[in-house]
Amino acid sequence: MTTTILITGASSGLGAEMARQFADLGHDLALCARRTERLDELTAEILAVHPDRRIEVRALDVNDHDAVFTVFRDFAAAFDRLDRVVINAGLGKGAPLGTGGFEANRETSMTNFVGALAQTEAAMEVFRAQQGGHLVMVSSMSALRGLPKAVTTYAATTAGVAHLVEGLRTEFYGKSGYGFTVLYPGYIASEMNDGVEAAENKMMVSTEKGVAAMVSAIEKKRGSACVPPLPWAPLSVVMKHAPLPIFRRLI
Ligand SMILES: NC(=O)c1ccc[n+]([C@@H]2O[C@H](COP(=O)([O-])OP(=O)(O)OC[C@H]3O[C@@H](n4cnc5c(N)ncnc54)[C@H](OP(=O)(O)O)[C@@H]3O)[C@@H](O)[C@H]2O)c1
Repeated sequence: MTTTILITGASSGLGAEMARQFADLGHDLALCARRTERLDELTAEILAVHPDRRIEVRALDVNDHDAVFTVFRDFAAAFDRLDRVVINAGLGKGAPLGTGGFEANRETSMTNFVGALAQTEAAMEVFRAQQGGHLVMVSSMSALRGLPKAVTTYAATTAGVAHLVEGLRTEFYGKSGYGFTVLYPGYIASEMNDGVEAAENKMMVSTEKGVAAMVSAIEKKRGSACVPPLPWAPLSVVMKHAPLPIFRRLI
């Protein structure tokens, strides 16, 4: 059955590849990001393969909170319904706390947490009005435990957004029509980690492979999933429970 899926941060990396793979599965797409020329190229690429798909594109900076509500409402009106919203826009800037890097940490906090909060509010407003919908939050394996140095703030934002969805899951428990998924990706090739060579990071997988695991978990409406499952599902146990002296040596 064709459903309409809104994806934020669809101009590159995981968001763009999710769009391609969801289109392959027969879904219609509502795509947004700041770089609309990228979205237009992606739309043309997908429509060349799937001319029957419907794809709408909007410019959106998730730090413009009024625009988040406007764009989500506009997409919902254009399609009549949003079956699924994937909150994916994010960045990975950061510096160790107390070393003069507040601007980078603030930017990451605003985009990844407050921006995601605005997107969650806007998505839930649509879902409550239409009495259902599937909310998907792209968190990160870094959500599972406090991490040091340049990723301390980024990890905190990924934990925060996961908790937003866990709160909603508790609130909507037993209500039919609603679904909540939190994805915890490991290292997946994208613009965010362009500087990291695959040879340097043996756990990095291609965008296609990593996103295939994400799309599979989303389509199954899993409550939460480490993606790809190997090595990240077993590693999640280590990350959560390893004693600190051991954990520090692993990261
Ligand atoms: N790749 C990984 O290994 C990995 C692992 C764990 C979690 N994640 C998460 O996956 C998500 C996607 O990241 P990625 O790896 O695909 O990185 P990416 O290639 O850099 O893509 C990031 C996307 O977010 C959008 N974005 C950033 N700031 C935005 C803003 N202010 N407003 C609107 N859109 C904004 C970008 O679009 P514009 O610049 O065009 O606006 C871009 O489409 C992020 O939330 C990231 O934390 C990635």
